Amino acid sequence: MNPSPAMQPLQRDFSPEPAGVATAILATMAFPYELPVLPYSTEALSPVISEKTLRFHYEKHHQGYIDALNKAIDDTEFQAMSLKALILTTAGRPDKDVIFNNAAQAWNHAFYWDSLSPRGGGEPPAMLKRMIEASYGSVQACKQALTEAAMSQFGTGWAWLVLDGRKISVVRTSDADNPLTRGLTPLLAIDVWEHAYYLDYQNRRKDYVAGVIEDLINWDFAAGNLA
Ligand SMILES: [Fe+2]
Repeated sequence: MNPSPAMQPLQRDFSPEPAGVATAILATMAFPYELPVLPYSTEALSPVISEKTLRFHYEKHHQGYIDALNKAIDDTEFQAMSLKALILTTAGRPDKDVIFNNAAQAWNHAFYWDSLSPRGGGEPPAMLKRMIEASYGSVQACKQALTEAAMSQFGTGWAWLVLDGRKISVVRTSDADNPLTRGLTPLLAIDVWEHAYYLDYQNRRKDYVAGVIEDLINWDFAAGNLA
């Protein structure tokens, strides 16, 4: 039987799922989705990200996207799709923006939790470091590019380290959008929506971004996403 047009994106959803805890849990779920467990305790990222910020972000915002996604796809053909297929199928379709926004934010936040670690910062693993140096000249220059992407994103959005072919690159996306919709492989995400930092830093996004990149960024997760 030929697949319906709405089901076709499932056919190109062959890429391996990322290795991170929250992302992997969410990727294996089906409707109805649940909030994936955090890979650390809610106070583990303090003082860069306080327990209060993390709890609001995870328990209210991430949970809110999950709940809204379940409501939007309840009793529709989209229930049968994987989360990644849902994102790819609804991207760029204004009539499906509620599904896209909540599916992408459900995925983006799981990916963000995995992009951070209480043992983060420092140097990337050797192979990733070599690839970063091939693309940017140095890890420091790459971190600077990531900082500039996070700072220059106007309004809500995300900064990402991605794999573009065999090249390491930095991109930014607006609102709920993510690099999957551009055929890129996400390696790391930094949430620059105000809800990610405002309780701790108010308007000082730069201090939040610097703290994340220097002390929390999970290079091991990024390296695991190269496969
Ligand atoms: Fe967020």
